[in-house]
Amino acid sequence: MRSVALLLVSCVLLSFILGHVKEVEAQKDIFLGGCGKDGNKTCIDDFVKKGASKPKSCECDDFGDEHLCRCIM
Ligand SMILES: *[C@@H]1O[C@H](CO)[C@@H](O)[C@H](O)[C@H]1NC(C)=O
Repeated sequence: MRSVALLLVSCVLLSFILGHVKEVEAQKDIFLGGCGKDGNKTCIDDFVKKGASKPKSCECDDFGDEHLCRCIM
């Protein structure tokens, strides 16, 4: 019974750690202007301009007169 509980706890802990690492890798930010023709490129440029490291790939969502970027670093 004890070992089952221990296994459960380590499973929860592991999924928490893995989920957290994923959260660190993906970065979200809101920038002024639209996504443009190539939202991926627009977002990568935005991240570089704000001084962050260059993302591998981004997804862009228009958000009124701003856009939301979700990037994988
Ligand atoms: C976004 O652009 C980068 C660099 O140009 C490219 O490597 C990546 O595959 C692109 N991703 C998508 C989803 O188009």
